[in-house]
Amino acid sequence: MIHTSSTVCIPIVTKVPRHIAIIMDGNGRWAESKRLPRVSGHAKGLETVRTIIKACAMQGIKFLTLFAFSSENWRRPVDEVSFLMRLFISALEQEIAHLYTNNIQLRVVGDLSVFEPRIQKLVHYLEIKTEGNTGLILTIAANYGGRWDILQATRKIAQQCIDGGDIQNVNESSFAEHLAMAYAPEPDLFIRTGGEQRVSNFLLWQLAYTEFYFTHVFWPEFNDVELGKAISSYRERERRFGRTSAQLTQKS
Ligand code: IPE
Ligand code: IPE
Ligand code: MG
Repeated sequence: MIHTSSTVCIPIVTKVPRHIAIIMDGNGRWAESKRLPRVSGHAKGLETVRTIIKACAMQGIKFLTLFAFSSENWRRPVDEVSFLMRLFISALEQEIAHLYTNNIQLRVVGDLSVFEPRIQKLVHYLEIKTEGNTGLILTIAANYGGRWDILQATRKIAQQCIDGGDIQNVNESSFAEHLAMAYAPEPDLFIRTGGEQRVSNFLLWQLAYTEFYFTHVFWPEFNDVELGKAISSYRERERRFGRTSAQLTQKS
């Protein structure tokens, strides 16, 4: 399905966000605050992932996108990176049955070409296996970077132009069709846990008109109550998309 760009058309706003994107941050600091090794924060964070997937599915959220590993996270110590890779594999292996019984469709976005073939095969298998599921569409962003995404879309468009395509046909809507998450509407709500107030190269293009919610709660302590607070905050926002407040009241 092709979704309209928020800068081309005014999107339909629903009370319940259709798409929530989350930067799951604060695992390391949570562990350090408990005098535990940083990696135990990642293991605990995986439990939160399960809780939040379930809560979103129950609340009728259609798209949930989780930032699991950024294109800059390779800069971390080798031991932490390899722990995260192992955790990713075991989570994928263990979640198959759960995804299936809960009618969840899994998608993974990011540059997977650098991952071990075993991970690539597993991801491919899970995507195919769950593609007919009609409930929540869960996207895991792994080795993802917003700049990488814009660049890979640009390369595809440049190739089409070399192959005889008309550059005049390149516009915001056609560009967005080449982004890794073209199957999803732009996020309505962006949540970042762990206290930092930055985007860290997440969905740069798609966040143009997304509502932001920052919380100091570390990801391992985030839960359905905290998710509820984020959604309540979202419901109070006035999404104007460039218009005035008065224009919105006239319409309703
Ligand atoms: C987020 O938690 C998880 C990943 C980036 C994989 P962090 O590991 O960044 O936790 P802090 O920010 O160091 O506390
Ligand atoms: C962003 O968190 C990436 C993920 C949560 C996967 P980071 O902890 O890596 O972000 P920075 O480095 O503090 O901006
Ligand atoms: Mg962090």
